[in-house]
Amino acid sequence: MKIAVLASGSGTNLQNLITQLHTDKNCHIEIAVVISDRKNAYALQRAKHAGIPQEIIRSQHFRDRVEFDNAIAKKIQDYDVDLIVLAGYMKLFQPPFVRQFRNRIINIHPSLLPAFPGANAVADTLAYGVKVSGVTVHFVDEGVDTGPIIAQAAVPVYDGDDEETLHQRIQIEEHKLYPEVIKKYAQEKIKIQDHNVVTIK
Ligand code: GAR
Repeated sequence: MKIAVLASGSGTNLQNLITQLHTDKNCHIEIAVVISDRKNAYALQRAKHAGIPQEIIRSQHFRDRVEFDNAIAKKIQDYDVDLIVLAGYMKLFQPPFVRQFRNRIINIHPSLLPAFPGANAVADTLAYGVKVSGVTVHFVDEGVDTGPIIAQAAVPVYDGDDEETLHQRIQIEEHKLYPEVIKKYAQEKIKIQDHNVVTIK
């Protein structure tokens, strides 16, 4: 299976997918391309180091967000990708892109959705004062972090946590969960019915 990883930032999830999937020839999962909307994203360096093609597609070069998404869709098709994996990609897709790739886009989010959607999940978690948080992997739909949930893992929130300490604890779980989900997807063991996802063991 070929995947595209979209990342806007440092790319620790990308690095983990390179190590656990791309370079493990037994997995048969290839990261065909890494796409970023930010030219300075460290994720691009990680891709370069691993010999994976990188594409920079910046929203400011397009008339509107639909055209921007179309440019991404074109690359996805050029690289003949089966699954679009968002790993710290901080832009929202417009409905036509979601429709075009329905049930073929997954995202990882640093909270237990539906709690704390959006771009500041870890800060919002701490501000609210919940005692348990975690990570969610979900299909992307037209909403903001509202798509069908594939898998979740919980982490405790400790007194005295700040954004960095809590995010680090969440990322340990992200790095376990995301490769597991992608492997299951490749094995066609993830079944989606309306808003419910069943994963075959
Ligand atoms: C991850 O923690 C991911 O859950 C989060 O961005 C981080 C990227 O880390 N995504 C979102 O907040 C999406 N709303 P990374 O660049 O080290 O992989």
